[in-house]
Amino acid sequence: MLKIKNLNVFYGGIHALQGISLDVPKGKIVTLIGANGAGKSTTLRTLSGLVKARDGQIKLDGEEILGLPSNEIVARGVAMVPEGRKIFPNLTVRENLAIGAFQRNNKAEISKDEELVFTLFPRIKERVSQKGGTLSGGEQQMLAVGRALMSHPKLLTLDEPSLGLAPLLVKGVFDIIKHIHEEGRTVFLVEQNAFAALKLADYAYVMEVGKITLQGTGQELLQNDQVRKAYLGG
Ligand SMILES: Nc1ncnc2c1ncn2[C@@H]1O[C@H](COP(=O)(O)OP(=O)(O)O)[C@@H](O)[C@H]1O
Ligand SMILES: [Mg+2]
Repeated sequence: MLKIKNLNVFYGGIHALQGISLDVPKGKIVTLIGANGAGKSTTLRTLSGLVKARDGQIKLDGEEILGLPSNEIVARGVAMVPEGRKIFPNLTVRENLAIGAFQRNNKAEISKDEELVFTLFPRIKERVSQKGGTLSGGEQQMLAVGRALMSHPKLLTLDEPSLGLAPLLVKGVFDIIKHIHEEGRTVFLVEQNAFAALKLADYAYVMEVGKITLQGTGQELLQNDQVRKAYLGG
């Protein structure tokens, strides 16, 4: 579904992505793990059209999307749950969700997706009229995932959804990602929580300072000595 090839991104003189290549096959969960500053968010932001690349390819179902404006990339089926959630604190939960669907006009299909979000997140349903900013951190993360689902993406990308959440909520977030995947979505997950991400992933990439340094199935990387030492605490 998604193929990234030889992607180079610079921030001024910083070579943030140094020729990275990766694949996210249809129907799979693929994860990208790595330390702070490795380039994980830059990868997702470039995929979403928020950061410009120097060169490389990003193909979605065989079509080049690199260089397209971000609204066009959303329209083609790529949704992102950004790092730090970025919900709108002064809008209600329902308005936040509606923003995810801003490019769609089939009301019946939009309300179907809203029902799906409410089924996945009953706590969000109970709080539809509340301002986004009054939700707890975990609820805001659910809302951010819900908002992304409202664009009816074929590829859902998430940037460190577990960041800043209490351990119990972290498990909840990973359970939800699993559930969304079981409903037929393709998932590209960026995480620093390597253990939880590798347990969930069909396939995984490890990124270090702008380069992909290791790859394999989630199980393979969980067993890998280098990964265990660097990311799983030995
Ligand atoms: N807007 C920016 N301007 C300049 N440098 C940036 C910007 N965003 C990220 N960087 C740098 O690019 C590198 C990769 O950052 P990032 O993709 O955010 O890493 P990660 O998400 O893996 O923590 C880091 O060295 C970071 O300091
Ligand atoms: Mg990041």
